[in-house]
Amino acid sequence: MKIFITGATGYIGGSVAERLLRAGHSITGLVRTEEKASQLKQLGIEPVLGSLSDHDILTTASQQADGVIHTASADHEGILEVFIAALAKSGKFLIHTSGSGIVNDQADGEYASPTRFNEDTCFEAVPFRQPRVRMHRLVREAGIPQGIRTIVIAPSMIYGRGRGLHKESEQLPQLIAFSRQVGAAAYFGKGLNRYSNVHIADLADLYLLAIEKAPSGSLFYAENGDASFKEIAELIASTQGFGGKTVSIPIEALIAQAGDLGRYGAAANSIVEAANARRLGWSPKAEPLARFLESYVPGQ
Ligand SMILES: NC(=O)c1ccc[n+]([C@@H]2O[C@H](COP(=O)([O-])OP(=O)(O)OC[C@H]3O[C@@H](n4cnc5c(N)ncnc54)[C@H](OP(=O)(O)O)[C@@H]3O)[C@@H](O)[C@H]2O)c1
Repeated sequence: MKIFITGATGYIGGSVAERLLRAGHSITGLVRTEEKASQLKQLGIEPVLGSLSDHDILTTASQQADGVIHTASADHEGILEVFIAALAKSGKFLIHTSGSGIVNDQADGEYASPTRFNEDTCFEAVPFRQPRVRMHRLVREAGIPQGIRTIVIAPSMIYGRGRGLHKESEQLPQLIAFSRQVGAAAYFGKGLNRYSNVHIADLADLYLLAIEKAPSGSLFYAENGDASFKEIAELIASTQGFGGKTVSIPIEALIAQAGDLGRYGAAANSIVEAANARRLGWSPKAEPLARFLESYVPGQ
C-alpha cells in the first residue's frame, strides 16, 4: 500500500515509516524543509513539501494514498477535519496519533492511582486534556458514517531509539537533562504517581497491525508496563551517572517551570492497559524501560 504520513521526520512518524517500509509498503511523508525532504528521500520515503497549514497539499497527498497516518501533532485541532473530508467515502484508513495523557489526573506526585484505564473505561479528562478527547471523538465517530476506517492510537510514555530522523522521545531525555541541572535524578513531590510506558519498536508494530486489522472507530492504548516517577528517578540515578542520588522537586517548582504540561506530564498518574491492541494480536517484545536505561546514552 501507499501510505501518507505526517510527522515523517519525527520520532513516532519516522519509526512507523521505517517499520512500514520494512513490511513492504511505500511511504509519502509530509516535510517542512527542502533539507529534510532530501534526508527523507535517503530513507526511502517520498517527501511531500508542506505543513499542517497547507490543506490543499494534505488533501491531495491523502487522496493519492491508500491510507493516512497523522503523527505530526496530537493537539492541532482542525486538521482532522481536513483528512476526514479528503478521505470521505473512500474506505481508506485514517490513523490519528494521540497520547494516553487524556486519562491523567492531578495527583501532584502524592499517590499511585488504583485505576488502570482500558479503552472502554469511562472518565472525564482534566480540562487541559479535554481538547484531545474531543479530537478522539471526532475521528472515531467519523469512521462508519463517512466511509473511512478511522483509528486512534494513544501511546503512553515512549522510550527507545527512534528509527527516523528524530532518534529521541520527549519525556525521558527532558527528565534526564533536568536532573543534570539539579545534580540528582529528579522526581516531583513524593513521586508516587505511576505512568505507563511503551518501547518505540513495539509501538511501530502496533501501527502495522492496526493497518492490517483494526475496525473503524477503534481506539488503542499502547503500553507494556508502568513505573512511578520515583522508580524512574531511581533507575536514572543508577544508570545515568548520578551515583544513585535522587532528589524530590516541589510541585510548585515544576508548575512554575513547565506549567500544565509538567504537572499533567510528570506528576500525574497515567496508567493504561493496551487491551484492544493485545486483543488484536499485539505482543510487545522489546526490552523493558529498566533494561533500556541501563545502556541508554542521551543523544546517541
Ligand atoms: N513521544 C512520546 O512519548 C509521545 C507519547 C504520546 C503522544 N505523543 C504525541 O505525538 C506527537 C508526535 O510526537 P513525536 O515524539 O513523534 O514528536 P517529534 O519527534 O517532535 O515529531 C513531530 C513531527 O511532526 C512534524 N510537525 C510538527 N508540527 C508540524 C506542522 N505544523 N506541520 C508539519 N509538520 C509538523 C515535525 O516536523 P519537523 O521535523 O519539521 O519539526 C516532526 O516530523 C506529539 O503531538 C506528541 O505530543 C508523543
